[in-house]
Amino acid sequence: MIRVRELTKVRAGKQALSKVDLSVERGSVAAIIGESGSGKTTLLRCINGLEAFDSGTVECFGATLSGGERPSRERLTALRREVGIVFQGYHLFPHLDVMGNLTLAPKTVAHEAADALEGRAHELLARFGLADKARSHPSALSGGQQQRVAIARALMMRPKALLLDEPTSALDLRSAADVLALVRELASEGQTLLISTHALAFARKACAVVHVMSEGQRVESGAPEQVLGEPKHAATRRLLSVSED
Ligand SMILES: Nc1ncnc2c1ncn2[C@@H]1O[C@H](COP(=O)(O)OP(=O)(O)OP(=O)(O)O)[C@@H](O)[C@H]1O
Ligand SMILES: [Mg+2]
Repeated sequence: MIRVRELTKVRAGKQALSKVDLSVERGSVAAIIGESGSGKTTLLRCINGLEAFDSGTVECFGATLSGGERPSRERLTALRREVGIVFQGYHLFPHLDVMGNLTLAPKTVAHEAADALEGRAHELLARFGLADKARSHPSALSGGQQQRVAIARALMMRPKALLLDEPTSALDLRSAADVLALVRELASEGQTLLISTHALAFARKACAVVHVMSEGQRVESGAPEQVLGEPKHAATRRLLSVSED
């Protein structure tokens, strides 16, 4: 499970995150919603050890990060093997084909045999509707396909939890629906997921818990029907009033 306690991060004299408490239980799916600039990406990056923070703690499946410390490379590697992240803009390696993208990290980090890795990659690609794309380069794929490759690449490390940063924000409705169906399938298999999203209908349908961020604070949390049905905080009401769904 992931447990964030009183996480505070100061950037340029301003609190980018302020005493954020949040947890994700093993096998559950949680959403983080909030206006642009509210701190969703920053929080996910702190949980994955990609950004240092000033105080508080992050505990992920036994690995702990504390504010103000500089964790060793070994500890960060250990944490990132448990917790994968897929970025808002995919960040695929442009010079590698899909198979190369999927197998690079497990080859170098986990030292797994190439044929076993390629077998696993082919299985994931087939499941994700990308069976014929193993030898394509990212530039030859649509946004939705690139997003699915990015999720497959993260899953190659068999993470205990996966952080998804706005997995549908750059996609048209059809591609977004494909990616969301995939996320729901992963959820139904018990993959622990923490997903930042502006897609409130998705948060309502697929997530057990919704956390609302506003100006670096977690202002509200609960079951989607409660948070989105009877919002308590003004920030949540603002989100609902501008949402189309
Ligand atoms: N590298 C950076 N340097 C300075 N400020 C930053 C940096 N990255 C983000 N910020 C600021 O920190 C705040 C939180 O940004 P963050 O990207 O976490 O928001 P977000 O909720 O993910 O927004 P969005 O929905 O647009 O992705 C914003 O005010 C942003 O401008
Ligand atoms: Mg963001």
